[in-house]
Amino acid sequence: MALKELAENLLFEIRKNDRKTFLEESLARQFAVEPENIARAVGLLVEWGYKLNLSSKNKKLRFISPPDILSDSEIKYNLKTKVIGQTVFAYNSVKSTNDIAATMAAAKTPAPHGTIITANEQTKGRGRLGRSWHSPPGNGIYLSIILRPKFSPEKAPGISIMTALALTETINKLLPGRVQIKWPNDIFINGKKTSGILTELSAEKNKINHLIVGVGINVNQPPGSFPDEIKDTATSIRKVLRKKTNRAKLLKSFLLNFEKEYELYCKSQLSVSLKRLRKYSYLQDKHVRIISGNETIDGRVIGLNEDGSIIIKQKDKTISVASGEVTIDISKK
Ligand code: BTN
Repeated sequence: MALKELAENLLFEIRKNDRKTFLEESLARQFAVEPENIARAVGLLVEWGYKLNLSSKNKKLRFISPPDILSDSEIKYNLKTKVIGQTVFAYNSVKSTNDIAATMAAAKTPAPHGTIITANEQTKGRGRLGRSWHSPPGNGIYLSIILRPKFSPEKAPGISIMTALALTETINKLLPGRVQIKWPNDIFINGKKTSGILTELSAEKNKINHLIVGVGINVNQPPGSFPDEIKDTATSIRKVLRKKTNRAKLLKSFLLNFEKEYELYCKSQLSVSLKRLRKYSYLQDKHVRIISGNETIDGRVIGLNEDGSIIIKQKDKTISVASGEVTIDISKK
């Protein structure tokens, strides 16, 4: 067994019961290796950042805590999903996880439905409308999910708001009552953006080839670390929570929520989620201006439709808008 594999198996074993201590000798017997190899595997785990307790006196080993890394084994450990994230590609530094996902999804041997790509850093992270996504190393979650839905292409746009709901409910567990969705795909905490979603579709006439859901989450960015262009509008979970969050743990809890919401969406779009979406809405009842293609739409937000479009009440009519860039019109109350 290669050292890396031994280290991973050993980690799995001692982590299953983190209150228990394990004798180096018994572990060696269990994995059919020499005790020195166990010691070397422990050395590797420590190098990866795991906190372990190994007493040199009686050679007893105990798991203490994982590092805050997005490695494939950290992501797979205790991942409760059925499909989403069961195939993982975890990178250290990439240009954009969405670009990698698109290449993998369209490859000769295409990546399966539910494959995820994560990175510790992006050097060309992309946002909506040609913007960039600030993706410094070590602090954020940069994730792309490859989906191969059976539904028709016109149902694809609602996936953004479905994702926003799954993510909001994930972050809401850490910061109850403080997380909101700004339609169609921004997550706000205390009125500042903490996450963005970039959904990219590849489709033929009536058939989706694949859908890439890109998610950026500002998790552990320290206060004061955002560049000037976004320092007044962006925030991180750490800034509000005043402590760090383990990114792999947060990612796994999001993937589980995502899988549940995706199943619901495939069955009945957003019909059973509308109540929750309304509860988290940042825009509900606000006067807004929406730039949608060449159109500018002014009006008051009165709700959402099952397909994810937003309902706007204007003076003489009520209309639905499928996508757009929203600003709140502060001149009206
Ligand atoms: C936005 O708010 O404009 C959307 C931001 C989406 C950022 C994520 S980070 C992971 C994935 N890879 C990218 O290049 N972009 C998305």
